Amino acid sequence: MNRIGPFNALYPMPTTLVGTMVNGKPNFLAVAHVGILTHHHLSVGLGKIHYSNQGIIENETFSICLPTQNQMVETDYCGIMTGKKTDKAALFDVFYGDLKTAPMIREFLINMELRLHEVLNYQTHDIFIGEIVQTYTDDKVMRNGLVDIAKLKPLLFDMASKKYWSLGPAIGECWREGKALKKAPVENKNKEQVMDDQTKKATIKVRLEKELEILQTKIDEAKIQMNLGMKDAEDKINPHVEKFETELTHARAKLAELGKSSEGAWTEVRDGLESSLDIMKKAFASAEKHFTKDK
Ligand SMILES: Cc1cc2nc3c(=O)[nH]c(=O)nc-3n(C[C@H](O)[C@H](O)[C@H](O)COP(=O)(O)O)c2cc1C
Repeated sequence: MNRIGPFNALYPMPTTLVGTMVNGKPNFLAVAHVGILTHHHLSVGLGKIHYSNQGIIENETFSICLPTQNQMVETDYCGIMTGKKTDKAALFDVFYGDLKTAPMIREFLINMELRLHEVLNYQTHDIFIGEIVQTYTDDKVMRNGLVDIAKLKPLLFDMASKKYWSLGPAIGECWREGKALKKAPVENKNKEQVMDDQTKKATIKVRLEKELEILQTKIDEAKIQMNLGMKDAEDKINPHVEKFETELTHARAKLAELGKSSEGAWTEVRDGLESSLDIMKKAFASAEKHFTKDK
């Protein structure tokens, strides 16, 4: 898996226009950072610098209006112009519902008016949480009394590509597709990973034990050599043998630790053990240079 930092990858999101009354006039801004908190509570995350925020705080109301793909241009315009300087609401046939201060758009197929429930004060953003008071839909988007998203053709927003996207066709039934796994026995992939890890550890332990055994016979050979040779050779071999034996004590302790070490930790012990073996091999090679050739 790539580690790409704390990158928000929760896209696509529906692009919406949030309606507010600012200084007595309707204003709309594009908002893709919308959230569903409960069946009736929605959140919108607005940068504190935006003109719209003061309208929501003043009136304690706002609207969330859903454009279709055909309303991309107007929607994008509301995301690049500020109500501080431009009357964006002039683009639309604006209407009001029960709350009176949450402007909505008659051309849009779905509009929701919300009463402000709570404001979360983040350093750069105000998160406005609202409770849906009423939802207004056009007949064009309805099927059997429910909103049909295929008819809405929502305008999807993706931050990575900075593009608008469209919805594809439906591919399955919610709360039903998963039932297929209820019948079939499910293989535990995580258990397999742990098993695999344990097998790896066991295999490595056997290999290292063998290597250690071979090295043990070598040190015995070096000790015989010390007794065979001249005093001079003994003095030269001895420091390497001592080094070897110190490392052998470490290696044995590490081998015991390897057997007990948990998943994840054992690779570190293995690396330590491998480097001990390396030190022993080098010590033996240095000692070997002083062996009596015609033993
Ligand atoms: C597609 C799109 C999505 C956007 N989503 C957000 C958003 O989620 N939150 C936000 O603070 N601004 C968002 N913006 C930026 C505002 O819509 C933009 O800054 C706007 O001009 C502010 O309007 P205002 O100054 O009239 O309030 C978005 C812009 C675009 C084009």
